[in-house]
Amino acid sequence: MSAFNLLYARKVAPFRGMPGPTPRLPDGNLREYLRREPHEFYFAHAEQYGPVSVHWLLDKPYVLLNDPELVGRVLTTERERFYKDAPRGEAGAVLRSSVFISNDRDWETKRTAHPFSRQDLEACLDRLMPTLRGTAREGAEALARGTQPFELYAPLVDMSFAMFSQALLGQAPSPERRGRYEVLMREIDRRMHGVPLSVSPRFWLDRFLWFQELEAQLRQRRASPDPAAPDILSLMVRQGSSLGEEWIRDEASTVFIAGAHPVATAVCSTLYQLSRHPEMREQLVAELRGFTAVHSSGYTLGELHALPYLERVVSESLRLLPPVTFFFRTVREGQSMRVGEHTLPAGTNVVVSSWALHRLAPYWKDPLRFEPERFASPPPPFHYLPFGLGPRTCVGRPFALACIKIMLTEALTALSFNIDPAFSPDMRFFAGLSVPRHPVRTSVRRLEAWPRVETTEGALGST
Ligand code: HEM
Repeated sequence: MSAFNLLYARKVAPFRGMPGPTPRLPDGNLREYLRREPHEFYFAHAEQYGPVSVHWLLDKPYVLLNDPELVGRVLTTERERFYKDAPRGEAGAVLRSSVFISNDRDWETKRTAHPFSRQDLEACLDRLMPTLRGTAREGAEALARGTQPFELYAPLVDMSFAMFSQALLGQAPSPERRGRYEVLMREIDRRMHGVPLSVSPRFWLDRFLWFQELEAQLRQRRASPDPAAPDILSLMVRQGSSLGEEWIRDEASTVFIAGAHPVATAVCSTLYQLSRHPEMREQLVAELRGFTAVHSSGYTLGELHALPYLERVVSESLRLLPPVTFFFRTVREGQSMRVGEHTLPAGTNVVVSSWALHRLAPYWKDPLRFEPERFASPPPPFHYLPFGLGPRTCVGRPFALACIKIMLTEALTALSFNIDPAFSPDMRFFAGLSVPRHPVRTSVRRLEAWPRVETTEGALGST
């Protein structure tokens, strides 16, 4: 028996016989965990130890579940046994009172009041469509105008951030807002990599200015309300909430924090897959060009979602390279969960890794192949979870999918993308998300003159 098991005999007892690496003093399996990216660690463990395994980060047990049925229990039928703690410690200073890290009644109230939980969300997003399309198109146009080749991921984050700014605040982002956003993301990332508290004055100043700007925007909407303004902040102010202005501010902020990078990752990964599979790219471009020709004066979200091949390509891209590769739940005080012959006691952290579940051979045929047609019919329950599952599934999913599809439509109908064949799509853990590890060297070629698009501000120029 290892010294770790002796020292923590009581803690270790419930997990005796569960597969997993041997924990050693002083850190359990922490060093092994830190040696590679978390999603690579989880996938290697899934392959080596099977559907249920335990590893120890210091003296804390983490049970990795790679069985769709067990994952379904944790996220749906037995969800009451769990609460969501992570990433409170690392991201709490930025997420503040957001639904993202709330629990119980507090979570329920915030989730119900969230602007993306509205019954009429699709109609609200449809009002934003011309602006979102125009912003995506401007971003794509800038790619064609710039020096070739260029690094693709950073301008895609600019593009999604600009779309988020337009949707949330009804205005293009200032360079200051864009810069502050990255400072906040980098701080979350630092804390997730083990630096517990920031001593960076830059972080605290930018955090102050970030929230101050949102507060000013809120005050301005209160002072002169515009009943026709389609931006989400105006919508929230009009809707009103007993949760108060701070909550509106924090939820609006969280939309950027939780969404802008993963949307860019999803678009980048899809463009990468398409550049590796020219026949699929041709098929998708044909679908999109036919679609935009028919809808030359604009399209609705419903019409965009009805495109079958776009839907399959995006779904398959989110399967192979999910922008959020794992998340946690913790067993509540006074609760437990039965897993085979083991009972997970209160305080056990459960890890759900979409990256691993999406790549395991028992659940997917030829899992490492990019094959959009596998989504011709829906996957079996609990096999596919790029946005999580159950009541705590990503509240931003409809908005994220709208942005991803609009960006792809506007970019692919206008530009031909060529990503350096030597590029390897390894992902790096960044602020709880996954982003390309290497520069995505890309060149684009303009396909043809673009048709005119009507936006809320009038017509965008054609070329
Ligand atoms: C491609 C883009 C996105 C991906 C892949 C993604 C993924 C996820 C995943 C996997 C979860 C579940 C975490 C868990 O169960 O613990 C989640 C939760 C969440 N996401 Fe997203 N997300 C994306 C975009 C967005 C956007 C645009 C927003 C903006 C509102 C957002 C806001 C949230 C919030 C607030 C939660 C917590 C919901 C709750 O606990 O009730 N996400 N997201």
